[in-house]
Amino acid sequence: MTIPLKIAGVGYCVPESIITNEDLTKLYETSDEWIYTRTGIKERRVVSGNETAIDIGYKAALDAIKHSKIDVNDIDCIIGASSAPPKLYPGLACNMQTLLGIPKGTPAFDLTAACTGLIYALQVARGFIGTGTYKNILIVASDNNSKISDWTDRGTSILFGDGAGAMVVTASDDGIDDILSIEINADGSIGNYISTELPGQNCPLVKQNEYVGECKIRMSGKEVYKFAVTTVPKYIDRAIEMSGLTSDEIDYLIPHQANQRIIEALQKRLQYPDEKVISNIQFYGNTSAASIPIALVEGVEQGKIKLNSTAVICGFGAGMTWGCAVIRLREGIC
Ligand code: COA
Repeated sequence: MTIPLKIAGVGYCVPESIITNEDLTKLYETSDEWIYTRTGIKERRVVSGNETAIDIGYKAALDAIKHSKIDVNDIDCIIGASSAPPKLYPGLACNMQTLLGIPKGTPAFDLTAACTGLIYALQVARGFIGTGTYKNILIVASDNNSKISDWTDRGTSILFGDGAGAMVVTASDDGIDDILSIEINADGSIGNYISTELPGQNCPLVKQNEYVGECKIRMSGKEVYKFAVTTVPKYIDRAIEMSGLTSDEIDYLIPHQANQRIIEALQKRLQYPDEKVISNIQFYGNTSAASIPIALVEGVEQGKIKLNSTAVICGFGAGMTWGCAVIRLREGIC
């Protein structure tokens, strides 16, 4: 028998430093009008000084754990969803273990699925919980994209911001499964749409590689845009169909916050009124895997989302990866 999963707590944290579109005009020729009309973004948050994705990830995790009412000693698995962590290793999840005081020996690992990371992590957690392998899993999605953005490239650096989101998922204690449907997908053949290379050279005793690489986000914006508005909607439809609900019966669409025009295309497809579609891209830009939990918790804080409801969530990003799920939002999760 598959053990059902409960979403017990959700949390988020964004850095304090704000970079407005106007600020970006100091870096290159652009304007608030250009950025806002094409992306819906007005400002984004970035880490500053020695702050990293680990610090904001830790605060988001504390928030999610507090809401879940799970004791840190009972967390038996940690999954980091990070594509722009401050360190290649130890992974974000291992850092969370130490900072949070989660018992030594608890497995902790990161997965790299870029902006779909949260949904990939949910699917992995569901497998562990469903089979009884682990009971209380902490998922932390945190990236400091600002460190790998090319701040001379106005086509990409306008889009990203830093942020962290976290979820505690547990074996359900009342038999109700909070994941009504979930599917994750990838197409590596179009991986060149968004990529970041780790710089490095071969061993000096062998022939050198010609391209040393640079750890900067490179993106074909138009291709990503087309991919997002053509592929993702079909998978949203599939997730809704698999959930056994109709789109009208689902209360909210909480999409990955990549571009307001993409969000509007998804909204149009579902024929949802504005109140059902959660968007906060204006204030944070694209915070990768953290964007869904940030939009969810902030939506609840601002009264846009009423709990004891359902939501279709969808993510997409580098890989190319994408994933959609229909989830139940219980009272008290944030
Ligand atoms: N300010 C002013 N002009 C800019 C600019 C900026 N910030 N960025 C690009 N431009 C210019 C380009 O140089 C180009 O000028 P040219 O025609 O003289 O060469 C023109 O605007 C059009 O550029 P283009 O890149 O074709 O713009 P676009 O309409 O495709 O918009 C994005 C660019 C990035 C906003 C858009 O492609 C996008 O949002 N794509 C999705 C990206 C995404 O969501 N990625 C993350 C997924 S997880």
